[in-house]
Amino acid sequence: MRSILSIAMIALTAVAGVSAHGYMSRPFCRGCEKAAMQVDDLKSPNFRGICRGEPAGKVTNVSGGSLTLGFTITAPHVGNCKVFLLDKNLGNAIQIGERMDCAAPGKVADWSLNLPSSASGSKVVRWTWDACHVSPCEKYEQCADINIIGGGSGGGGNNGGNDNDDGEAPAKPTKSKTPTRPTKTKGSSRPTKTSAPKDDASTGPTSAPAPAPGGSCTHGAFTCSGSRIGICNFGQWSWISCSGSTKCTNQGSNYYCA
Ligand SMILES: *[C@@H]1O[C@H](CO)[C@@H](O)[C@H](O)[C@H]1NC(C)=O
Repeated sequence: MRSILSIAMIALTAVAGVSAHGYMSRPFCRGCEKAAMQVDDLKSPNFRGICRGEPAGKVTNVSGGSLTLGFTITAPHVGNCKVFLLDKNLGNAIQIGERMDCAAPGKVADWSLNLPSSASGSKVVRWTWDACHVSPCEKYEQCADINIIGGGSGGGGNNGGNDNDDGEAPAKPTKSKTPTRPTKTKGSSRPTKTSAPKDDASTGPTSAPAPAPGGSCTHGAFTCSGSRIGICNFGQWSWISCSGSTKCTNQGSNYYCA
């Protein structure tokens, strides 16, 4: 057996790749405050029911009828992803998006969704991922508490044009049509436009501060440093090591090992 010290180190560095593969990190998810000290709890398959059994958490204001999800995926895998909008009490779920391979190798990217024009006020967005590198697929999910401002009045899908993922076709709201995969993902080569990654369309820290080990950072921010993903926990960076020879990769507000 390992020493207590090395077990503690493993807990601290949050082994990537065993059965802890990733999570929806934006909007700030239910349980996201565990990202720095107990990240495996977020990244593991879900066995605790809807929203992983996490209690309601930090609320993110969302305006203008669209919502952008971001992900932190340390072990990408093929498989289908869905997004639902639920009432605050987790009832009345409606599906607002579906995409194959939202967390697959080379395809992790921000995911912009149109919100139903009738939706407003306190809602819960629920993301699910069937990671099908094994059979049966592993089930992952996260929820985030959002407050939809300006909805309920037939607002369109304009999110104010202040984010930088215009190259990315928003997933069409999937009423009942077959979800068409947006054409954007091929190659996912969006070179160096990423200097100021924007997170979701409304609130939250604007960009990840430069990595400054030991320095200050904005709680909840992410950064890359070689083969490590940094997560800012109350002003201090903590680091998750990528598995094998993979390196931390950043696209928009997504951080993953590849
Ligand atoms: C979110 O919107 C509400 C109004 O609905 C406002 O009172 C609150 O300050 C906003 N929060 C943030 C973080 O902007």
